Amino acid sequence: MKILVTGAAGFIGFHLCERLLKDNHQIFGIDNINNYYDVKLKKDRLNILLKNKKFKFKKIDISSENFVKKIYPLTKNFKIIIHLAAQAGVRYSITHPYKYIESNVKSQVSILELAKKIKNFEHLIYASSSSVYGSNKKTPFSTNDRVDDPISLYGASKRSGELIAKSYSKMFKINCTALRFFSVYGPWGRPDMAAYIFTKNLFEKKTFDLFNFGRMERDFTFVEDIVNGIIPLVKFKKRKKDLHKIYNLGNNKPEPLMKLVNLLEKFSGKKAKIKKKGMQLGDVRHTYANIKDSKKDLKFKPQTNLEEGLEKFVNWYKEYHKIN
Ligand SMILES: NC(=O)c1ccc[n+]([C@@H]2O[C@H](COP(=O)([O-])OP(=O)(O)OC[C@H]3O[C@@H](n4cnc5c(N)ncnc54)[C@H](O)[C@@H]3O)[C@@H](O)[C@H]2O)c1
Repeated sequence: MKILVTGAAGFIGFHLCERLLKDNHQIFGIDNINNYYDVKLKKDRLNILLKNKKFKFKKIDISSENFVKKIYPLTKNFKIIIHLAAQAGVRYSITHPYKYIESNVKSQVSILELAKKIKNFEHLIYASSSSVYGSNKKTPFSTNDRVDDPISLYGASKRSGELIAKSYSKMFKINCTALRFFSVYGPWGRPDMAAYIFTKNLFEKKTFDLFNFGRMERDFTFVEDIVNGIIPLVKFKKRKKDLHKIYNLGNNKPEPLMKLVNLLEKFSGKKAKIKKKGMQLGDVRHTYANIKDSKKDLKFKPQTNLEEGLEKFVNWYKEYHKIN
């Protein structure tokens, strides 16, 4: 199958493309390779994908005015789009608010405009986030819960993306599936996320901050499990009604942040130097995914526990950074 993957140079996009290529699909990847984090990491991921002849790539900004005009001639035969490109990160949204409107709101419209233009378009699968649940108290978070109380612009931009997709799916009969990912980690992971930051500081023997005095819990989800949750949607049959569906993809097991630190100490063989701090603006204390629907409809079944996943992550980190 021919599949357009946005954010292909990103963390999840890279893993997804690797898997789709293994399954013999033809992939057209796009990404603007922005410098939100180390561009070398994005290029290194991309160079691995480019070794496969079934992978084509174009550097392009989805939020640019002429995006649809430029990309349509190259993608008019693509009936499936997996849209992962976004400006990620909760903390960066405090200092760079407009990036979130461009990459998460305006770009969502661009992708839907593209889907609308493609003849006999089948399915738009796109990344949303657990941050849409904001400060919801009831756990586990269900896709039936109200999500109108975001506590970060990132969360608000992802929720806006869902509402925009829902409106297009109704108006133009476009099948759309939103996937709310929960704290994804694993090899080739993002340098702005906890597992990477902590591991880097452990190896560099530097002190790192632990917010809310370490009293946080996250439903950490291994990247391979996320990819396994996306794959069944590629073989999807068009829905006749409720064209817009939302699923949670999370491990269904919240873990304390201190457990993450302790496991990283174990696998790195280093002792953490921690500075405990108060709650950060925009952060949530707890995430926990209800995955009943994803289990039923997508046969989603997370396989990797935090210990196994972090061991794989630290092994990758050591190899990538040439640490003995
Ligand atoms: N990693 C997680 O824990 C997590 C959790 C919840 C949701 N998500 C969502 O999953 C998706 C993938 O996340 P990731 O962790 O791989 O992030 P990532 O930052 O590694 O990947 C996103 C990619 O999109 C590209 N991009 C950003 N804006 C663009 C634009 N305007 N045009 C073209 N390309 C652009 C970036 O260069 C980057 O390579 C995102 O939508 C993110 O919001 C991720």
